[in-house]
Amino acid sequence: MRVTVETLRIMHREGRKISMLTCYDASFAHLMDEAGVEVLLVGDSLGMVMQNRGSTLPVTMDEMVYHTECVTRGAKQAMVIGDLPFGSYQESPQQAFASAARLIQAGAQVVKLEGGAFMADTVRFLVERGIPVCAHIGLTPQYVNIFGGFKVQGKTDEAADRLVADAVALEAAGASLIVYECIPAPVAARISAAIDIPSIGIGAGRDVSGQVLVMHDMLGVYPGKKARFVKNFMEGRGSIQEAVKAYVDEVRAGTFPADEHAF
Ligand code: KIV
Ligand code: NA
Repeated sequence: MRVTVETLRIMHREGRKISMLTCYDASFAHLMDEAGVEVLLVGDSLGMVMQNRGSTLPVTMDEMVYHTECVTRGAKQAMVIGDLPFGSYQESPQQAFASAARLIQAGAQVVKLEGGAFMADTVRFLVERGIPVCAHIGLTPQYVNIFGGFKVQGKTDEAADRLVADAVALEAAGASLIVYECIPAPVAARISAAIDIPSIGIGAGRDVSGQVLVMHDMLGVYPGKKARFVKNFMEGRGSIQEAVKAYVDEVRAGTFPADEHAF
């Protein structure tokens, strides 16, 4: 049976951890689907891992549509989330709808966008028109030029309060789930306590409903710098299938992430 936003809500309510991985093509989608990964994220991280660019900013709508089509052809049960790339949704709710509709028509069930409370109107506009939204807060890579690099967010009390307020506003606008990226674990726990929708962490500790990693990171094939939150699941394992299954098992058991992967 296809994983839906309702499936994720039930898992969250029952305290069953959700596993998510990024995915960019049909063969890996098939493999991850078979391994029981609940959500495949066609991330704009493809700008880094597929295209060797320095950031996600150059990724285009056409590229996201192409990879979303590839992934949806390989996935039978997993939910597919498509990332809205930089420049495809920030201008207006109308622009966001036109872009999101392309990802939905490419086969995604949900779209993801970066930003806090100021994106609430856009989230509401999409949800009212039939498009479920995954929000993304904390280290939002499309803001790399504002942040001055890829840095942990929410470190001051004021910044932490803002993240809590962002999550509350996104939930009120109808977001189905929220990704927290690179947020200190105690701050992530505060955010999770303030909302009822599922949260997915990457570098955000264990007080979330599930985890996500970039597939190239968890398979140890990304040649760039390895972030603190990354674990190479190929270590000690003989196949990609085994590594992906181990990721799903460790997320379910709550043994990944360990303290060493958190901020
Ligand atoms: O593009 C991506 O891979 C992402 C995840 C890191 C959450 O947005
Ligand atoms: Na992304």
